[in-house]
Amino acid sequence: MLSQQQQLQAVQAFAQEKLGHDTTGHGMDHLKRVARLAKKIAQAEGVDAFLPVVAAYLHDTIDEKLFADVQAAEAAVEKFLGQQEFSADQQTEIMQIITQMSFANTLDGSRPQLSLAGQIVQDADWLDALGAIGIARAVYYGGKHREKLYDPQLSPREHLDRAEYRNLANETIINHFSEKLFKLAGLLNTKTAQAIAVERETFMHQFVRRFLAEWEGEA
Ligand code: ADP
Ligand code: NI
Repeated sequence: MLSQQQQLQAVQAFAQEKLGHDTTGHGMDHLKRVARLAKKIAQAEGVDAFLPVVAAYLHDTIDEKLFADVQAAEAAVEKFLGQQEFSADQQTEIMQIITQMSFANTLDGSRPQLSLAGQIVQDADWLDALGAIGIARAVYYGGKHREKLYDPQLSPREHLDRAEYRNLANETIINHFSEKLFKLAGLLNTKTAQAIAVERETFMHQFVRRFLAEWEGEA
């Protein structure tokens, strides 16, 4: 029988193998921050942190942006969880969390039903897109995908559907703030994450205000 600590070590090694080389902002540094936040939120909400932390490490190992064959990636995670002695119930819950938690899944106006552990991991992932880290990740991701920093001719798109969200044509890094990042705080599930988000969101609004003022030479 593996201990939870042994299972967690195996999960970290699996994540390292799948995303250790990522350079789009979904690497181990992101997974570790999400795991830390998931643990903190779980503890504050009085929930066992084990499944949230496990799901945090695995949540981007099946992302369609990162893995061409999503079905194969999901099958690999399921096989891995079985090998590491996760129970059938745990496997089902972890797979449900990581397949349903992404922001893209909210773009048709629906909110997939997530377990409490899932809501916590989703909050942790979204908090890592906010604040100083969120700004750095947006610039890093946008640069990697050849986005412009900003273009006054291109206004942010009010309503994005899933296909548009995946099509980066004419996206700018500053538009991404209105199209996604400023929406995230209002979508957070837990009171604990909502409280953490306040300062992060304020900081980002300040950043965008200053950015636009400096762009015009006004500040
Ligand atoms: P999700 O897993 O919810 O779909 P993403 O993987 O799209 O989220 O986003 C991961 C990180 O990359 C976030 O910090 C996000 O702000 C950033 N990002 C995603 N799309 C863009 C974009 N078009 N321009 C700039 N940053 C982006
Ligand atoms: Ni993520």
